Amino acid sequence: MSEDAARISRGFARRPRARLLSGVGGDVASSGAAPWWQSAVVYQIYPRSFRDTDGDGVGDLEGVRRGLDHLVWLGVDALWLSPFYPSPMRDFGYDVTDYCAVDPRFGTLAGFDRLLADAHARGLRVVLDWVPNHTSDQHPWFVESRASRASPRRDWYVWRDSAPGRGGALRRPPNNWRAALGGGPAWTWDETTGQWYLHLFLAAQPDLDWTNPAVVQAMHDTLRFWLDRGVDGFRMDVVHCIGKDPALPDLPPGLASIPVAAQHDDPRTLALLRGLRAVLEGYPGERVMIGEVVLFSTAQVARYYGHGDGLHLAFNFLPLYAPWEEGAWRARIAEVEATLGAQGAWPTWVLSNHDNARHRTRYGSEMRARAAAVLLLTLRGTPFLYAGEELGLEDAQVPSTHGLDPGGRDGSRAPIPWESGPGHGWGHASPWLPWPPDADNRCITAMRADAGSILHLYRRLLRARRGSPALGLGSFTALAAPPGVLAFRRELADDARLVLINFAAREIACPVTGAWSVEVASDGRGEGHSYRGTLGAEQAVVLR
Ligand code: NOJ
Repeated sequence: MSEDAARISRGFARRPRARLLSGVGGDVASSGAAPWWQSAVVYQIYPRSFRDTDGDGVGDLEGVRRGLDHLVWLGVDALWLSPFYPSPMRDFGYDVTDYCAVDPRFGTLAGFDRLLADAHARGLRVVLDWVPNHTSDQHPWFVESRASRASPRRDWYVWRDSAPGRGGALRRPPNNWRAALGGGPAWTWDETTGQWYLHLFLAAQPDLDWTNPAVVQAMHDTLRFWLDRGVDGFRMDVVHCIGKDPALPDLPPGLASIPVAAQHDDPRTLALLRGLRAVLEGYPGERVMIGEVVLFSTAQVARYYGHGDGLHLAFNFLPLYAPWEEGAWRARIAEVEATLGAQGAWPTWVLSNHDNARHRTRYGSEMRARAAAVLLLTLRGTPFLYAGEELGLEDAQVPSTHGLDPGGRDGSRAPIPWESGPGHGWGHASPWLPWPPDADNRCITAMRADAGSILHLYRRLLRARRGSPALGLGSFTALAAPPGVLAFRRELADDARLVLINFAAREIACPVTGAWSVEVASDGRGEGHSYRGTLGAEQAVVLR
């Protein structure tokens, strides 16, 4: 692991609260050649924070359903719902007690079916979060597993004896692995049964033992439950962690301080992914398998695509951690193109999600967030938007004394303001987290009424993408450009676009050969006119 990657993955342990760095239409039938998820733009919804309709201050599935028209208006193709399963919420839903139900705080199964039907009727695909590596410690499986060593479910989780002591009576965890979200040992001692259980995250999130065929079967069944209801695929939480060497060997001492979840890379996972893929392929339509692979090397991430039998898409978080610098982005993009391109794996791009400070916050200005939107939506691969980035939302300021999340990630999970004025369209209760800054102006209704807003920029970009085979599926060629400018060409048959991103805070002359007009500009300037050969400070353009 490089120095850089080690630094990033240490951050995975606990992100500091302080700021980092500075109309769909149609139906959901397959369109033919390329699978839908290659040209799609996926919109991530964190249900707790999207929209509340029952006045308890926590978003719900009915809020998502009522928000569908916003997504259609915006022009995305699919939504990914972060977990809404029953959960004690120690990790806000990533600690599941029942994979085949809806937590009453979010609604009901019937409500989910309504949401799914309404999304499909609008041409939107629906992807569910699925959490295979661990359950909640309140899941009946774990309750049974920890009840006694003789429990029929004992071997559904990873139990081990103490490591041999250093001559004393002190109990030592079985290996040197550290957990994420707190950084303590990845093992908790169970007094009743006198053994340790493994948890790569909180002690309240025990790891399932995927070497046990009964676990594999049970988890496959949970996928079938939702596939039978018609979902279009899954975003699989830390799926790179499910395959483990039963010997659970120590990490080399130099890596032992980094949470194991940010470096675990075991070939056994690939075999398990093949099994998951076979479950999805047993269903008609193109059900998609999107894996969260928290590894900080593109070459490692690439392996999880398998040979057409692994993940369809894998998150690659290195670019998310790239600073707002042309050189850094040029290098990250080149690495993705070379590594994934060589094996025919389709890339993904993500700038913001519920685990990291929003890129509007990281990059420090709306100008940059706008230029970054142009980049995100024109690179070759499937882009993931995080609800609220289309409003240019910044993270909420959540004082550490009021923080709720054990990983310090509350800021980017602030509720989405729908309207101006108290409640912002969420009814009377104050929401579970504070509103993001400037919510009166950065709300959906106000920004829709302002054609110059960042919301309209996202919409224009999505429309341009949808209308251009080159942007959706075309080839990518990096172009020579003046320092500070990233330039590339996308091309498919007779359709082509040029994309120019000025990372510098000054105007830069950037002439191009041939006659091109500005299709989309990050600040709206010059759209519909000939490109005049100069980029404004931190301006990005799509040329056609
Ligand atoms: C990754 C999820 O995105 C994060 O929110 C969660 O805390 C961990 N996996 C554990 O499930």
